[in-house]
Amino acid sequence: MSEPQSRRRIAILGSTGSIGTQALDVIAQHPDLFEVELLTANNNADLLIRQALQFNPNQVVICNPDLYDRVAEALQPRMIKVFAGIESVCDLMDSDRIDMVLAAMVGFSGLKPTLAALKAGKAVALANKETLVAAGSIVMPLSVEHQAPVIPVDSEHSAIFQCLQGERVKPSKLILTGSGGPFRTMPAAEMAHITREAALNHPRWKMGAKVTVDSASLMNKGLELIEARWLFDMAPDDIEVVIHPQSVIHSMVRFSDGCVMAQLSNPDMRLPIQYALSYPYRVPLAMERLDLIKLGCLTFEEPDLQRFPCLEIARRCIRQGGNAPCIMNAANEEAVAAFLAGNLPFTQIPEIIDETLARASFVANPELDDIYSTNFESRRIASERIALRHIE
Ligand SMILES: NC(=O)c1ccc[n+]([C@@H]2O[C@H](COP(=O)([O-])OP(=O)(O)OC[C@H]3O[C@@H](n4cnc5c(N)ncnc54)[C@H](OP(=O)(O)O)[C@@H]3O)[C@@H](O)[C@H]2O)c1
Repeated sequence: MSEPQSRRRIAILGSTGSIGTQALDVIAQHPDLFEVELLTANNNADLLIRQALQFNPNQVVICNPDLYDRVAEALQPRMIKVFAGIESVCDLMDSDRIDMVLAAMVGFSGLKPTLAALKAGKAVALANKETLVAAGSIVMPLSVEHQAPVIPVDSEHSAIFQCLQGERVKPSKLILTGSGGPFRTMPAAEMAHITREAALNHPRWKMGAKVTVDSASLMNKGLELIEARWLFDMAPDDIEVVIHPQSVIHSMVRFSDGCVMAQLSNPDMRLPIQYALSYPYRVPLAMERLDLIKLGCLTFEEPDLQRFPCLEIARRCIRQGGNAPCIMNAANEEAVAAFLAGNLPFTQIPEIIDETLARASFVANPELDDIYSTNFESRRIASERIALRHIE
């Protein structure tokens, strides 16, 4: 990777999302360190156009082809090249004008372009955890083969990554922290009535809708458990989860001598985003500083697996291995979309995932084609199960 003296040219996949917009905020703070080479969006053409006019990338991709004309017309006076479709995103990963790719698309849609970036030998700052959940056994060897590092952006994994800097031995345990989400203390009997609005009201983090619902069901912690297994090559049973409602310790590592290292900061995604973009350098960031006296205390609890079964499902899937995490991820994406559309109660999200896991074809050693067909089959099964409940 280039030194920070030469500006890093960044491709932001999913620039209109929560991570994408915060990454642009980081880049705007450091015009001397970063420049934007490529921006991509799915449907939010207006924001993509505004971002392109502000950051002047060489190229943009609007994945929804119906919006191509609007974006192309708006950016034509600036001579910014405009493309449409996800295949264009993958094709552009080969460009020698890109130094680093921020994978900030949501869900399984992030897999193809992330694979293309790694095959092109680009450093990938990875926010899109679903890529590793669905295909970690394929993604990580590709990173090694093409000497294309995967640098975590998820705050927990960034914390672990930061704690491991300079260490020569593998830790004995990873301790992932989680806020517990908005329903941490809600009695089980009330959970059947959880509304979309309540689930989207996260107490600590402002994020996209899908990851916010995942945080509320604790599936986000399950996805992160699987992400950590691949990023740090750890046995699933050596990754613990601890609920830490203040979201100040972003995760910890324990070494064989008993030492525990933690990374602390106020909850602000711009810090892990910037660390990934500037790695291995640290650079200043304008954000609120941690005030330990004002904070007073940090607390920790065990996750309640009765009320939040998604976390246990994820642990089961990563122990089972093969395509089980991919089935789980696909079913979860369908179930969350149905919940957000008002077609599935919150408490039935884990039921849909379990039913899909019981019905989808298990593949012990999946190739990439198996991953795509698993995703397709599992989504079909999950949406059928959701439709059945809707009818009942
Ligand atoms: N937000 C956070 O604080 C946070 C923290 C840790 C990890 N993450 C992870 O980071 C990823 C992004 O999360 P987010 O909260 O930023 O999501 P988000 O706000 O929903 O943004 C998603 C981005 O991906 C684009 N996109 C969605 N579907 C697409 C598709 N089928 N093809 C191409 N582009 C598509 C969206 O484009 P349009 O806007 O144009 O539709 C948008 O730019 C997720 O994997 C999430 O788990 C997020």
